[in-house]
Amino acid sequence: MKPSTPRPIHLKDYRPPAYLIDKVDLDFDLDPIRTRIRSRLSVRPNPKASARREPLRLDGEHLELDEIKLDRRVLAKKDYKLTDTSLTIPKTPSKPFTLEITTFVNPQANKALQGLYRTSNVYCTQCEAEGFRRITYFLDRPDVLASYTVRIEADPNEAPILLSNGNLLERGTLDSGKRHYAVWRDPFPKPSYLFALVGGDLAPIASSFRTMSGRLVDLAIYVEHGKEERAAWAMDSLKRAMRWDEVRFGREYDLDVFNIVAVSDFNMGAMENKGLNVFNDRLILASPETATDTIFEAIESVVAHEYFHNWTGNRITCRDWFQLCLKEGLTVFRDQEFSGDERSSVVQRILDVRQLKTHQFSEDAGPLAHPVRPETYIEINNFYTATVYEKGSEVVRMIQTLLGRENFRKGMDLYFERHDGEAATVEQFIRCFEDASGVDLSQFRLWYSQAGTPELVCALRYDKAKKKAELEVEQVLPATPGQAHKKPMHIPLRLGLLGGNGHDVALKLDSGEELADGIVSVTKRRQTFRFVDVPSRPVPSLLRNFSAPVNVTIDLPDRDVELLMAADSDLFNRWQAANSFATRTLVEITRLLAQGKQTARGARYAKALGATISTDALEPAYRAELLKLPTQADIARVIGKNVDPALIHRAHRRLAKLIGRTLGPLLEDIYGAMAEDGPFSPSAESAGRRALRNAALTLLTAQWGPRDITRLSRHYFKATNMTDRAHALFLLAAYGGAESARALDDFYARWKGDHVVVDTWFAAQAQSPLAGTLKRVEALTHHPLFALTAPNKVRALIGTFAATNPVQFNRPDGAGYAFVAGHVLMLDRMNPQIAARMLGAFRSWRALESGRRGQARKALQRVARAKNLSSDVQEIVSKMLEA
Ligand code: BES
Ligand code: ZN
Repeated sequence: MKPSTPRPIHLKDYRPPAYLIDKVDLDFDLDPIRTRIRSRLSVRPNPKASARREPLRLDGEHLELDEIKLDRRVLAKKDYKLTDTSLTIPKTPSKPFTLEITTFVNPQANKALQGLYRTSNVYCTQCEAEGFRRITYFLDRPDVLASYTVRIEADPNEAPILLSNGNLLERGTLDSGKRHYAVWRDPFPKPSYLFALVGGDLAPIASSFRTMSGRLVDLAIYVEHGKEERAAWAMDSLKRAMRWDEVRFGREYDLDVFNIVAVSDFNMGAMENKGLNVFNDRLILASPETATDTIFEAIESVVAHEYFHNWTGNRITCRDWFQLCLKEGLTVFRDQEFSGDERSSVVQRILDVRQLKTHQFSEDAGPLAHPVRPETYIEINNFYTATVYEKGSEVVRMIQTLLGRENFRKGMDLYFERHDGEAATVEQFIRCFEDASGVDLSQFRLWYSQAGTPELVCALRYDKAKKKAELEVEQVLPATPGQAHKKPMHIPLRLGLLGGNGHDVALKLDSGEELADGIVSVTKRRQTFRFVDVPSRPVPSLLRNFSAPVNVTIDLPDRDVELLMAADSDLFNRWQAANSFATRTLVEITRLLAQGKQTARGARYAKALGATISTDALEPAYRAELLKLPTQADIARVIGKNVDPALIHRAHRRLAKLIGRTLGPLLEDIYGAMAEDGPFSPSAESAGRRALRNAALTLLTAQWGPRDITRLSRHYFKATNMTDRAHALFLLAAYGGAESARALDDFYARWKGDHVVVDTWFAAQAQSPLAGTLKRVEALTHHPLFALTAPNKVRALIGTFAATNPVQFNRPDGAGYAFVAGHVLMLDRMNPQIAARMLGAFRSWRALESGRRGQARKALQRVARAKNLSSDVQEIVSKMLEA
């Protein structure tokens, strides 16, 4: 909660800080309700700031100020000015000076989980983006880089483990064992948001890593006692990530230690604090019995992501928070590449594109749309979005596509060389690629400033006599809030032309140029690409490997789509063809359902799908992706207006049933063939077999006949790992009835003692499309294991209901909206960041049919009218209701 009225911050107003802080000495005296923090700052006027001497204004919130000394002299009340958010010292020396500030905070009472807080008796900090100001008064902005020395003192019984950034200098006991302390020093200058401290009774698993230059780094992961074995996969992932960054980007780790701590209450997934990453424990703890393959995968990628930040984010940080994509988009790109290299690159690409479309495309199409680099914000916490992350990653990927891998690497090398130790901007980043490759990226820069998903409207014409094919491309740039008109963008379009036999035709432009990589640059509003020597009417395969975050529309007959599904040499596009065929089919079924009519397209799609997935040459994980239908949210996004989620749900069920019936024997074969009885392996291959088997099961049992339910129940009770067990649990919970209750009760009995695993039990119930779900979810908010102060619980129950239960969240009577809105208001009093995230579930409300739209508006207006809203929720709700 920001105590004063929030004001928007603008990129164009950026000014360098008036003062710099070179050295920070912190001394923490940990206490659950009254922790004392002494801070000693080496401050000097910034030579690069305006010559006029300005007062020193430090950020600070929710702090109890005890004392300030300037060059050892205690300041009197009249020497400074204190507000709810700042401490200003009007008169400062013109030379470097020392400021000593003592503050008190109450970690136990901190439910916002920003700054210093307690979770399961562990002291822990979260400072990104602006949490450091809840610990002490400081220039809490990313362009102020200092080296930190941190002394932590605590009760050794309560907090035997004391950690901070960097290397351990010293530790010892005091007061004949009543207190103890540790001193940590981080030699790398860093912004305050990368500061971290942990104190608690935790158990380490230790290992080490030999870097490419031969240095030995001590690695440790700290978890709850008794759960050490469950951290093995995270440790393994960490070492693979460290090696990968050396091989792929030439980046070596720099400190002597790398620590990870898993905590149970955490606003985000994980945080990249220098040398001391802090993780949500659900993204560290995994064993075959407790974690699904999806969680194993997520652990691998998040551990890698936070580790990769050491170079992209920490060594080179952001000048200001508008540059957030500079570290987040780039680091997502790096973790996606890592996962692709460790696993199957095409399957990884499919997963990433699915994620992009579901979250980012819908964000970009609604009231919360913003550019990859926003130009204004009220609360920066609201800008850790799919656009900054996922689209930000796509923008980096497009640079790699346009430059080629080799030049891209040169650009990255130059970036590291030029900006190491600095707080950089997007312009500086782009400049490195231009300088390294000679490619002009001036038009490309628009990807950072123009919001909205471009649409490429394409048409292909073929002249048989001249053997010429013409691809006409028009780019349509939809208006977004504050951006009515847009300039044409530079869009890399990777394509192929398939001859009648399904083979690629050589791509020769009429200019004589041969396209070895199949990439053309779309730079104008309308453009035509002419290909010569095309022997027969080709089938275009567009946007191969999803070469740009755009929507492509082209009118292709079903048989062309079928050819792409069966034969495209680009495996990503085979999947894309199947996915757009399924989407088209679902949209059509939805439309016809409203008119009480039927279509034959479903059967045709099922057949084409059957032909593609029976190809044994395709790996199981890939075939599993083919078998997954587009989500109901995806269909809603494509329909775009007057959306009726109940109809989409019915259409979705209908198509699943039809595929199950049509492909029954094939799906049976798969279900049998993919069974494994050897020991569990989290490898991509084994996970792929499980994914394919479970995808087959979903469709096989889609009729929901008694035999299907028995089969699901058997799948549940016979499961030897969480992937199979959770899959069956979600399907049973969706069906309801006695078998569902039996599985849910069993799951609860097994896992009620495990705060991570029990979240699956909450989520399975919240996702059920049954009519009684809302009542059940309401009741579960009073369950003894539920707590509004625990973000994972809120996400599992309320988040799952709002984001992945389209039918019940969008009840025509508005009760789903009212429930979520009511909880947003309750949450806002303790954790505004989580409250604002939950409110995001309404982001597509304007696309709903009028009845639901009215109900959703009512719920949003109720939030907007509430008193004392946080700036987080205030900003989101007002954008949602604007225009
Ligand atoms: N720096 C972020 C964590 C963060 C986000 C802190 C917002 C404060 C506010 C971290 O690197 C991150 O991006 N974490 C992601 C997971 C990642 C794999 C995309 C997260 O927590 O969801
Ligand atoms: Zn990140």
